[in-house]
Amino acid sequence: MITLDDFQPWLDIDSLNHVMAEACREATASPKALYLFMQRYVRYGRNFSFAVPILSGIIGSSHLFQDPTHPIPAHAERSMDLGAKIFTAAVEEFIDPRTNVSHRTLSYGLLDKLAEYANLPNAEIQEISQSGAWLSSLLKQVQIAYQGQPDDLESLVRAIGFHVATETVGDNEFSIINSVIFSQQRDRSFGQFIRNSKLNFPQGTVSPWYWIVVHGTLDTKGVEQRHSADAFSALNDVVQYSSASETQVIEWAGQGFAEFAHIQTTFFEQVQREVRNSMTALAA
Ligand SMILES: [Fe+2]
Ligand SMILES: [Fe+2]
Repeated sequence: MITLDDFQPWLDIDSLNHVMAEACREATASPKALYLFMQRYVRYGRNFSFAVPILSGIIGSSHLFQDPTHPIPAHAERSMDLGAKIFTAAVEEFIDPRTNVSHRTLSYGLLDKLAEYANLPNAEIQEISQSGAWLSSLLKQVQIAYQGQPDDLESLVRAIGFHVATETVGDNEFSIINSVIFSQQRDRSFGQFIRNSKLNFPQGTVSPWYWIVVHGTLDTKGVEQRHSADAFSALNDVVQYSSASETQVIEWAGQGFAEFAHIQTTFFEQVQREVRNSMTALAA
């Protein structure tokens, strides 16, 4: 059975966690630094959210996944079952069950509150949202990494590998953000601000920080735990339902892991640099 251990050669989780924590620390420098960091993070996550259902649909359209134990080969296609295990990661992105709005709307709700905390006028928010050109090429890379061809098993497995890495390390990234930005500042002004703020939706009222913690924290398993388990299950289904060996699947998926490590490291290093530079410019 394929597990996270099989991908040690492609992804150094400790060093990635370190890069993420360092960027979060930079974000705590000031309310404006925090807004800038989170604005970039929301934009970065945006592309993952709609790439997931596209990949699950492409897998669903493929004829490459067949159950070899089924007595009637013409009825053995299992693509949709495999695609479903990718699709589960998209469900809350579209509809969070507690608030009935998308995760994207929740993320913008957090940005609304962070802008209020930083006392940013609309013109400045607009300026920040229109800057950050460095993100464009990374977002393109995310889109490409999630692309697979229905008749090309290697490309599909590579994309599934990228997805598995995203869902597995996604747990870490939200819990690191929660720990460095919120938990360690619980008693400072930011912690108090968040605890006194609410976001109201027709279906329910939540903390603006809900979008972060719903994915998982150091103490709680959020939605990412199931996403990760399902993504690994999809990878193991590839071994069961295709002609590729387990070793071959690990090799192809490993390329997706490596691509994820590269993109994720680049994002957190670049956002740290941008936040630092903008704070230095303000101080000058
Ligand atoms: Fe999400
Ligand atoms: Fe997820």
